[in-house]
Amino acid sequence: MADVDTLLAAKRDGQELAPDDIDRLIAGVVDGGLTRAQAAALLAFIYVQGMTDAETIALTRAMTNSGERLSWAGLTGPFVDKHSTGGVGDKVSLVLAPLWAELGARVPMISGRGLGHTGGTLDKLEAIPGFRTALQPGMLRTVLQEVGCFIAGQTDAIAPADRVLYALRNETSTVPSIPLITASILSKKLAEGIDELVLDVKWGSGAFMQAADQAGRLAESLVRVGTGAGLRVRAELTEMNQPLGLAVGNALEVEEAVACLQGGGPPDLAALCCRLIGDPRAPALLASGAAYERFARMVRAQGGSVDAPLLGGALSEEPLLAERDGVVSRCDAYGIGRAAFVLGAGRLRADQAIHPGVGVRLHAKVGDAVSTGQPLATLVHAGRGLAAARDLLRGAFVLG
Ligand code: URA
Repeated sequence: MADVDTLLAAKRDGQELAPDDIDRLIAGVVDGGLTRAQAAALLAFIYVQGMTDAETIALTRAMTNSGERLSWAGLTGPFVDKHSTGGVGDKVSLVLAPLWAELGARVPMISGRGLGHTGGTLDKLEAIPGFRTALQPGMLRTVLQEVGCFIAGQTDAIAPADRVLYALRNETSTVPSIPLITASILSKKLAEGIDELVLDVKWGSGAFMQAADQAGRLAESLVRVGTGAGLRVRAELTEMNQPLGLAVGNALEVEEAVACLQGGGPPDLAALCCRLIGDPRAPALLASGAAYERFARMVRAQGGSVDAPLLGGALSEEPLLAERDGVVSRCDAYGIGRAAFVLGAGRLRADQAIHPGVGVRLHAKVGDAVSTGQPLATLVHAGRGLAAARDLLRGAFVLG
């Protein structure tokens, strides 16, 4: 079998690696068989040379196999999940998981935390008093069996190779590589033991991939590689030039998700949840409010209280008023995400604390006519970062 140096040189020179070679390299990333320098070089060579689909499938499988794979043997499926590449005001998971469970699927959803201007599902759910996102495998199974869905955090046992490689990618400027992103996302999803995955690949100012063509290439890669790795995969390309819905910030987004589950809430949120599920029965079921009870059961099963007020405490509010009559021509997702971030709703590093209550409420979005003095948005704040958030919010709106 070729040694690590030979494999690295082959990738450096643009040769295709065999699945066994990729298994060997990824095992070495986790067990120390590769030095940090060798692992960094591997990432750089992949970044520059790219990977064939066969290599990316092998990389995905090797990363999944670096840890545990959840098994739902004994439970009836289908086992389904959604992954979003992340956006501003994206609270879809909170609605989609119980709604899909209400439609008969089982949804073992492993989610992440927010980073930078994009929010994270776990942070949102933790605005619910008592809600626990760290669940042992036995508990995951119990909740999935009894409720039909859970939303929990990643454990150390899931795709440990991804954790090592993702940290190295951050250090080596190799994050924006389509094969590396594809394998990173899919390796964690495969470890959930699902049969079907829907991907919400966002493009626009608030998205991870801002250009639609780049997001399209990522979506195609995810579908081809996910299918090659044995999943049923669909992808939707969705716009993230303005936030999804009207609420940005953890507790604010939980409130909006609950309104949607009860049959109300902003139409763009309900429409996206139904589009992603892709079941013609979803819109009527969501509008009936029946999925709310499923959400409440999931919250209770994960230790949370649906009756107690959301966390965040007493906060102040400051409106942003329209300075003239006009029609909103821009309501920029990135600027609004940054405004919520500087108020304390987000974090730059995984170990930083966030404020569950602060954020932005939107009152107008693109296409809405407004008159002078009418509120465009409200900052919900605890004092911190107010001046910067005010500037960011003002800069995010353009009236045409
Ligand atoms: N999300 C992931 O999980 N991995 C990436 O590489 C990028 C986004």
